[in-house]
Amino acid sequence: MKKIIGIWAQDKNGLIGSKGILPWHLPSEMKHFKSSTMGAAIISGRKTFEGMNKRVLPGRVNLVLTRDLNYQSDNVIVVHDREEVLNWFGKQDKSLYVTGGAELFRLFEHDFDELLRTVVEGDFEGDTWFPKDFDLSKFEMLSSQMYEADEKNSHAFEIQNFHKVRN
Ligand SMILES: NC(=O)c1ccc[n+]([C@@H]2O[C@H](COP(=O)([O-])OP(=O)(O)OC[C@H]3O[C@@H](n4cnc5c(N)ncnc54)[C@H](OP(=O)(O)O)[C@@H]3O)[C@@H](O)[C@H]2O)c1
Repeated sequence: MKKIIGIWAQDKNGLIGSKGILPWHLPSEMKHFKSSTMGAAIISGRKTFEGMNKRVLPGRVNLVLTRDLNYQSDNVIVVHDREEVLNWFGKQDKSLYVTGGAELFRLFEHDFDELLRTVVEGDFEGDTWFPKDFDLSKFEMLSSQMYEADEKNSHAFEIQNFHKVRN
């Protein structure tokens, strides 16, 4: 069954971004992002999209959220508010991964069925944090996997999978 899934990487303080890009370079974490999202739909905020130089990720339906009604970019579906995103989601059969940034995690907080959180071990400098008031108590962690630092990945990290608790 299709789902709406939040996927992000943060340090232990919740930092997710620095000057429009990620604060770290962790190829194994990027591999996890790629394999998780492949074949599905992904949505990012306009700032995150531009931080990636408007790169369209292959093998996935790419959506970008902006309030700018004139915004255009090749090979992406431009959407303008939460309702439009949920309408789009309802009319097709793919799961939707919300890939950030902070504004989108806040906007879709109550729509998530699942979360895939990576916690990077370390303190980094940056300017964007995962929403501090996000209510994680509505979710339960079903699994987690630790990845140690190695010659390619400068820091250890843990990938955690949460599911929404249904009342
Ligand atoms: N570590 C991670 O996993 C991760 C993941 C993603 C991003 N990031 C980082 O996060 C930072 C960017 O995050 P951010 O929070 O500043 O920006 P963002 O969420 O990427 O984008 C914000 C933009 O999205 C649009 N938007 C937001 N809410 C909207 C709404 N309700 N309706 C319509 N459009 C809406 C607006 O675009 P307009 O201004 O065009 O209207 C807004 O300026 C970057 O540093 C990036 O690298 C980290």
